[in-house]
Amino acid sequence: MAVSLVTPSCLLIILLGFILAVGLVPQAEAARAFFVFGDSLVDNGNNNYLATTARADSPPYGIDYPTHRPTGRFSNGYNIADLISQNIGSEPTLPYLSPELTGQKLLVGANFASAGIGILNDTGVQFVNIIRIYQQLANFQQYQQRLSVLVGKDQAKKIVNQGLVLITLGGNDFVNNYFLVPFSVRSRQFALPAYVPFLISEYQKILQAMEILAMKPKLPSIASEPTPCPMLAPTPTP
Ligand SMILES: *[C@@H]1O[C@H](CO)[C@@H](O)[C@H](O)[C@H]1NC(C)=O
Repeated sequence: MAVSLVTPSCLLIILLGFILAVGLVPQAEAARAFFVFGDSLVDNGNNNYLATTARADSPPYGIDYPTHRPTGRFSNGYNIADLISQNIGSEPTLPYLSPELTGQKLLVGANFASAGIGILNDTGVQFVNIIRIYQQLANFQQYQQRLSVLVGKDQAKKIVNQGLVLITLGGNDFVNNYFLVPFSVRSRQFALPAYVPFLISEYQKILQAMEILAMKPKLPSIASEPTPCPMLAPTPTP
């Protein structure tokens, strides 16, 4: 008489466990995590959680989004970050401040962007409570700790190292910190030809800080301009 070591219900549980494991592992490994930093071009809802006037939580924002409701994106529909997520086959990243960003959702990455910010710390002061770029990087460090708790330190490091990083910054340094009012502090301090290299040098420091955090930007950084056409800035050589 053959001795069955596994009863059918036990087998079912083992099989189910296997299917779940197979289902979960590729999910954790196949899709690359995506980390988004920057301003309103990519903010997907962080400012909704902040006491600031820089917000996109009322119509007609979101009018062409699948829900037809405002989401906090400064767009009628999807924004650049969403389109990249779609193209790498990932679900959209959640805003870092979203309470839904827990557990397995952390593996997708996170969106740290906040409308109104710029390269300079003093850009967007009129919006008071926004997440400036160095704070976004601090939040990213916090994210790494949360990810480590979930998957372990080594795996978390791997996810971050292999992640895709998008940063869009720079438009507000012109629009809100230079041209918005005549005789702005920055325009009195710098003529335009001197302001641009100053911004680039400050932007370089940000990219260096990101590299120290083990992020290797895999996409060209987009430094936005007040023109409709974004300016592509090369990432620094390691
Ligand atoms: C901007 O703020 C960060 C963090 O508060 C600080 O480390 C950095 O030195 C500041 N940059 C400038 C140019 O003041």
